[in-house]
Amino acid sequence: MALIEIDNLQVSFPQGHGHKIAVESVSFAVEAEETFSLIGASGCGKSTVLRVLAGLQREWRGQVRLFGQTIEPLQRFAGQLRRDVQMVFQDPYASLHPQHKIGRTLGEPLKIHGEKQIPTRVLEALQQVGLNAAIAERYPHQLSGGQRQRVAIARALLLRPKLLLLDEPTSALDMSVQAEILNLLNRLKREHGMTYLLVSHDGDVIAHMSERAALMESGHIVRHYNRADLRAGEHIRE
Ligand SMILES: Nc1ncnc2c1ncn2[C@@H]1O[C@H](COP(=O)(O)OP(=O)(O)OP(=O)(O)O)[C@@H](O)[C@H]1O
Ligand SMILES: [Mg+2]
Repeated sequence: MALIEIDNLQVSFPQGHGHKIAVESVSFAVEAEETFSLIGASGCGKSTVLRVLAGLQREWRGQVRLFGQTIEPLQRFAGQLRRDVQMVFQDPYASLHPQHKIGRTLGEPLKIHGEKQIPTRVLEALQQVGLNAAIAERYPHQLSGGQRQRVAIARALLLRPKLLLLDEPTSALDMSVQAEILNLLNRLKREHGMTYLLVSHDGDVIAHMSERAALMESGHIVRHYNRADLRAGEHIRE
């Protein structure tokens, strides 16, 4: 079953007296348990597509189905849908509350969703991403970039989502830490049978992570790549 089905997605933003089209006509489907990646130049609309699927960008046109369920424009994600889709952002520093200890940042989504045994779940979540319990007592500025991104991943996984939207999850990290995080993501995906939609500008990251990819250019998908294309580096030659 396709987890994501997008048909003719269009997103525009008000600009001056008119509007600017950020996503013009994007269609693709992502199957359960695959990693599908979006690549393309800065400003081509990649993050906007992810934000629509996360329920963060609620003004759009076209057809969107998640887990076989039709999503409507302006719809607020709630209940199971809100748990099933999680997003990891490029900059882990900006996405963690600077004045909250990590334990609180991780505990809050669980509390909102009425979960029990929150301290235990927080420790499990830290452990799962290779962080020790002491991290719960620290503030974001006391962590390294790699540790912060692990925390962001732990937070995204707390509610056991089916779909993870990864927007440049490692581009703020140095090379060795980047490889660690990517391997961690691949392991977690296998263990939990998750599906990933990944954005990265790094051709090696795309080849390492993805079953399929699509190249975007000013709001359109202009090319698709299968596993063999990616292995041959077709996506790097464009
Ligand atoms: N909230 C917004 N208001 C106005 N314009 C926006 C908004 N969000 C995105 N845009 C514009 O829409 C276009 C697509 O932006 P988007 O962030 O999706 O690109 P991107 O492919 O993710 O780029 P990058 O690789 O730099 O992250 C850009 O021209 C951007 O300036
Ligand atoms: Mg972006």
